[in-house]
Amino acid sequence: MVLTDLRIRRAVQNDAAALAEFAEKTFSDTFGPDNRAEDMAMFVASSFGLEHQAREIADPRWVTLLAEVDGSLAGYAQIRREHTPACVTGPSPIELYRFYVGNDWKGRGLAQRLMDQVRATAMDLGGRTLWLGVWEHNPRAQSFYTKCGFEDVGSHDFVLGTDRQTDRIFSVSLD
Ligand SMILES: CC(C)(COP(=O)(O)OP(=O)(O)OC[C@H]1O[C@@H](n2cnc3c(N)ncnc32)[C@H](O)[C@@H]1OP(=O)(O)O)[C@@H](O)C(=O)NCCC(=O)NCCS
Repeated sequence: MVLTDLRIRRAVQNDAAALAEFAEKTFSDTFGPDNRAEDMAMFVASSFGLEHQAREIADPRWVTLLAEVDGSLAGYAQIRREHTPACVTGPSPIELYRFYVGNDWKGRGLAQRLMDQVRATAMDLGGRTLWLGVWEHNPRAQSFYTKCGFEDVGSHDFVLGTDRQTDRIFSVSLD
């Protein structure tokens, strides 16, 4: 399948089940190999599943974007307004909370198209600074974000199950 068939749209309630399945799979594919199974299982149980993703889609402070190719999920992104870490100093900050593409779509330009849409959506929501946390041991994602203009501005803790980890915090101006 080719990228010209790509459609990016906002998720609706009906998408919750497919999103839950895709989100759990992409999370497990990404972090499963480098983390303890017990920590992964705890985190997955507290973050993914029909009820979790249905609540996220319904939350007015969140926007969930789905990237579909030929009607199948190929990626997704979630933007939200929550607490902003002090190291993010730009105006009107908004968080890119999750950003994932399926294994078949890595390195094919889909992530860039999804990021363009994330930026446009964040600006529509009044955001002027986009920030995110990315695991210190996730070099591919860090390279991608750097390529998109993000800069490393600090760090915060991220707890995966029982494991306290360090996320780098990346930020970019939307102006
Ligand atoms: C992060 C993600 C969205 C980026 O999309 P992508 O299609 O893989 O991105 P690209 O291929 O355009 O860019 C990745 C860059 O990292 C580089 N790269 C690949 N493996 C790398 C590694 N081990 N170390 C450093 N850089 C690496 C690639 O060469 C590429 O750079 P280039 O275009 O200059 O060659 C995608 O890889 C993904 O979904 N990963 C799993 C989920 C994830 O980690 N999400 C982020 C959570 S914060």
